[in-house]
Amino acid sequence: VNPYYLRKLVEHDEKNLARRLQDSVGIDFCSNDYLGFSKDPVLKRNILKSLEGVDSGSAGSRLLRGNNSWVCKLEEELASFCKTEEAIFFPSGYQANLGLLSAVLDNKTMVFSDELNHASIVDGIRLAGAPKTIFPHSDIEALRRALQTADSSLRKVVIVESLYSMKGDQTPLKEIFEIVLAYNAELIVDETHATGVYQSGVTQSLGIQDQVLATIHSGGKALGVGGAWVATSAMVKDYLINFSRPFIYSTAPSPMVAEALRCAVQFWKEVGEERAFVAKEKARDLRKDLSMFMSESSMSGDGLIVFLTLNESALAIEWSERIREKGLDVRAIRYPTVPEGHAGLRISVHAHQSPVDLKNLVNALKRLVLEC
Ligand SMILES: Cc1ncc(COP(=O)(O)O)c(C=O)c1O
Repeated sequence: VNPYYLRKLVEHDEKNLARRLQDSVGIDFCSNDYLGFSKDPVLKRNILKSLEGVDSGSAGSRLLRGNNSWVCKLEEELASFCKTEEAIFFPSGYQANLGLLSAVLDNKTMVFSDELNHASIVDGIRLAGAPKTIFPHSDIEALRRALQTADSSLRKVVIVESLYSMKGDQTPLKEIFEIVLAYNAELIVDETHATGVYQSGVTQSLGIQDQVLATIHSGGKALGVGGAWVATSAMVKDYLINFSRPFIYSTAPSPMVAEALRCAVQFWKEVGEERAFVAKEKARDLRKDLSMFMSESSMSGDGLIVFLTLNESALAIEWSERIREKGLDVRAIRYPTVPEGHAGLRISVHAHQSPVDLKNLVNALKRLVLEC
């Protein structure tokens, strides 16, 4: 094997940035299973029942034989969930961002992208070869200035996440939407971590889902299954079917995944809002407990994600290991997932975490803070 690979791995390790696959053991404080859907026995039973007779594979891309009744039924359900004209299904949120952005952006479109946008957004913009302005995180004045001074011959598209995946904070979406309207730009909102936690997303909660270009939703987080979709107008869906290369040149996801996701959305309609409410109450209590011994400035997030900034990667690894020894699964988040020097612990609060587990987590963190 070429020594290049080993050299790169050693360099990575020396910076405390090496990743290893770890067993999923201990109480889950790190996954995105916010509502406990991925292990819910009722949802699993519903899925198993409805999979009877569903094909295991799609056998082709959507434009060949991969367009089956299951995926069409799913897309109808997803559009109704999002209250949009249409939805278009993708194998994952990563591919949905690539599929959407590579198609709607081009070298004559100026993109305005929040500095903390997810890697799949960054990669989608790169794939499109679009010129971009990265604005400071959720800084609406900086966004306004950038739009004001942009080349007027270019189309303008603003891309944000409604709820940031690592820091867990909500973007000021209403204000951003107003700025976008004022400067005649278009808006794309990644709703991955808000889907199922704030209805289908914050865009829908604000009632502006018909006025944005598109929203991106993952079926693998609060909905506990997998797959993803872009919610949009009939016109943009038609455009993506014609111009989105990741959509066109890839085997359509298994109809089994499509059917399972449809069951999850139906299940959400029965229990989703109540579970999201319970989880938000738990997150609020956790923040209150942590604020007894941690500074406001070291904690971010205002929903179900609590991010504790420790800055140094080595410290984030050490704290995560110490907490994991207590049977609580909290992971270190490091560059490039967060900017350099902003490493920390990302705690995700779930509806089904018990008061004892949450108390144990608070105690474990308190001990680490006191030892510091
Ligand atoms: C904001 C954001 N967008 C997109 C994705 C990709 O979604 P998926 O995991 O479904 O590929 C993620 C994944 O964590 C994300 O956080």
